[in-house]
Amino acid sequence: MSTFAATWHEPHESVPRPITWGVIGSGSAASRFCTGLVCVPGATLDAVWSRNRKTANSLAEQAESTACENIEDLLRRPIDAVYVSTLPDSHAQYSVAALKAGKHVLCEKPAMLNVEQLVKVLEVARQCNLLFMEAIKSPFYPLYRQIRRHLHEDPIGDVRFVRAGYARADVPATHPSWRLDTGGGGLMGIGVYQAFLAVDWLGEAQSIQAFGRVGRDGVDTFASLQTQHANGLAQLYSGLDLSGPGDAVLVGSEGYAVIYENWWNPLRSTIRYRDGRTIELNEPIVGGGFNYETEHFCELIRLGKTESPVITHEKSKQIARILDRARASLGIAL
Ligand SMILES: NC(=O)c1ccc[n+]([C@@H]2O[C@H](COP(=O)([O-])OP(=O)(O)OC[C@H]3O[C@@H](n4cnc5c(N)ncnc54)[C@H](OP(=O)(O)O)[C@@H]3O)[C@@H](O)[C@H]2O)c1
Repeated sequence: MSTFAATWHEPHESVPRPITWGVIGSGSAASRFCTGLVCVPGATLDAVWSRNRKTANSLAEQAESTACENIEDLLRRPIDAVYVSTLPDSHAQYSVAALKAGKHVLCEKPAMLNVEQLVKVLEVARQCNLLFMEAIKSPFYPLYRQIRRHLHEDPIGDVRFVRAGYARADVPATHPSWRLDTGGGGLMGIGVYQAFLAVDWLGEAQSIQAFGRVGRDGVDTFASLQTQHANGLAQLYSGLDLSGPGDAVLVGSEGYAVIYENWWNPLRSTIRYRDGRTIELNEPIVGGGFNYETEHFCELIRLGKTESPVITHEKSKQIARILDRARASLGIAL
């Protein structure tokens, strides 16, 4: 069986068992999650809780759901799963609370503030025998799956080099990216996707060099990484003070695949072969994009799994280690 087939569970039930959801947090990610949930077969939103009563009410109204008074009320409800969409400094606290209340957890990226915190939360998930997954959406998009499938059937050779990055200089001053205390910075915000891509194609990073700038607020405003992995090399960047394209390139001995910007919401790719062939892939999405990872998560619950074969716990740890080591190199406290 191919690696791709071995790690991907296609939804298999024609009438899927219902999975009910609670949402913690009511910001932009929470709103996008609720929009996507409508497109997930068998999934329903039961209730929302956020410390901000006003935004919780408005999200609940938008999603035709209920806003709970407090987190205990949310976790007492008969829900299967919780989506944690607060900022990274509170992901651990809410993930643990949900797991201990018997709920499966889909937690926004970056899963935790550092790998040490992640290991502790994964241990709680293990003890509770519940599913925990970091919400890295890219590999669940149809285009990413199509690239995997295509490169398996018509390879460009082993992918041995990955180049990916994104920098955006117009992030508003009020955006959480500027707040060190809640887990901000370019690496935690967008660098997590670049680290994912490198780990996904090249395996665990064995050596990391990071250079960059730390701004007045103490967060990394630009970071450039060279990483050496089990199967190759990567060049990654992320930033809040330059404007750089968000494309990615996967390079093998027989050709390369470009994933066009913004590659972490992948829609379009060109594969060029050394023999002159060019393949164009286009895979539009429905539901805004969060729905694909949510559908996968629901299917794992139905199958009784405690870990995703796509975003494995080990993969989340490998991503967190890259972010930790890069931020430590820049002198950022973890
Ligand atoms: N997958 C994606 O494409 C995607 C896109 C965007 C963001 N994200 C991720 O999603 C997470 C949230 O980002 P966002 O853009 O949605 O941020 P946001 O718009 O600022 O929303 C954050 C939400 O979390 C709440 N919150 C923050 N800290 C909290 C705490 N300690 N306790 C309780 N509630 C707290 C906020 O409440 P207040 O209003 O009271 O502060 C707000 O409701 C981040 O981890 C981010 O990296 C993922």
